[in-house]
Order: sequence, then C-alpha cells, then structure tokens
Amino acid sequence: MAPIRAEQRYVDGIAHRWLEAGHGWPVVLLHAFPVSAEMWRPQLEAAPEGYRFIAPELQSEAGQGIDGYANNVSVLLDALAIDTAAIGGLSMGGYVTFALYRFLPQRFSHMILADTRPQADTPDVRAGRETLRRLVAEAGPAAIADVMLPRLLSERARREQPDVVSAVRAMTTAQSAAAIEIALAAMLDRPDSTPDLGGIDVPVLLVTGEHDEVTPPEIAHEMEQMIPRAHATVIHGAGHLSSLERPDVFSRALHDFLLAQL
Ligand code: MLT
Repeated sequence: MAPIRAEQRYVDGIAHRWLEAGHGWPVVLLHAFPVSAEMWRPQLEAAPEGYRFIAPELQSEAGQGIDGYANNVSVLLDALAIDTAAIGGLSMGGYVTFALYRFLPQRFSHMILADTRPQADTPDVRAGRETLRRLVAEAGPAAIADVMLPRLLSERARREQPDVVSAVRAMTTAQSAAAIEIALAAMLDRPDSTPDLGGIDVPVLLVTGEHDEVTPPEIAHEMEQMIPRAHATVIHGAGHLSSLERPDVFSRALHDFLLAQL
C-alpha cells in the first residue's frame, strides 16, 4: 500500500493543498462535488509502481467558474514542475478536466473521465442548483449532504457500506458553505464540451458506475463514439461515486489503462 502524503504549498499567496502517493509518471485525479481530494485515498493507496498519483483540492474564486479550478490545477502542476501528466476527474472533476484540456491540451498524456458528462446543465438541473444554493446559504453543508447522498451513492452502497456513507458525509460537511456555493455557480455556468470531444487526441479512459443516476453509463458510451482514442468501462454494482464504492475494480481499470498506453 503506497503511503499517502498530505501536502501544501503557497503560490502567489494562495495555499494549494493536495494528497499524493508513489513516485514516477504523474497521474492527476480531480474530485467530485461536494466532496474533496480525500475521495481518491483508495486509488492513492493503490498507486502502482512507477506512478505518482496526485489529488489536488479543487479551488476557485467566486466568478471564475469552472476555468478557475482548471487554472489552479495548472498553477499547482507548474509549482510541482510537472509539464505533462495523465489527468482526469470524476463528475465535477471531469468538468474541470474538459476545461483544462480546452486551454492546455499539451499538459495531457492521457485523460480519465469518470462518471461525468460533456454537456452543459439543462434548465432543470440549473433550477436544482439554484435550490441547492439557497439551501447551503440557509442550512449549511450538512443539508447539502442530506440531499446529495442518495444521488452520489447507489442504494446498495447506502445499505451495505456505512463507512463510505460516513466518508461522503464527512467530506461534504468539511466544506465551507462558500466553497459549495462557488462550485454550484461554476457548474451551472460551464459550457458544453461536446464540440471538443472529437479533438481530444490522447488516450481516454471512460469509467462509470452501472447504477450512476447522475451521469449514467450511456453518456460514457456516447463519448466513446465521439472521442478518437477512448475506451469505456462500467463498474458493476456501483453508483455515481464509483471509485469509492468499488475502489479495487476502479483502480484495476485505471492501472490497466495506464499500463496499456504508456
Ligand atoms: C459531482 O459528483 O461532482 C456532481 O454530482 C456533479 C453535478 O452535480 O453535475
């Protein structure tokens, strides 16, 4: 099991925090909403020989949108003297991955898109985010955890994996209301990345939980048709946070992808 290091570095007065494990080719994993880099602990612990897994805490300022997160990931990679890496994320982490590829494709050796979608929000989803913005302002992150848990985890995980349920709740309640508000606003305003898919010219792994109701597997299968070098795989029995629900299966898919391509 690779030991995990919790790191922090100031760049231009801004604290960048991340978890990392292993040594070698960098693999950058961006977390989902409303959780944190902690969600990648199982993958970091399983980092294979020859790889350095890095999980940044995503951060952005109000008004910077999804590009703000992507820009801060790029600033961190510069600070770590990393030019090129395998980069990807789950759900909101995927939205940030699309943004980063849009302005810095040369940073990517590979891309990992887990439980995510290229499309912008529909009017219904936008209305739902506005409701969550009001909720977090009035009732705080714990109320967001209550609403989000049934969306993030499969019914099976909620019944059989109490440790995963508590981890998701703990990660969510550790966020500030302001950070949640910023993330909701950023997701709500993000552009449609579908037109970019055909131009992604690195190998892409698409992973989705079988029972993901936020970004169902069909979305990954559609992306597989549009991205020139993509491979889609389904994590059986998992919901939206597939990497947490079935960490071993997720990590195996990731390792097979990295080892096959490098
Ligand atoms: C996430 O898991 O990052 C969010 O559920 C994504 C979203 O709400 O669109």
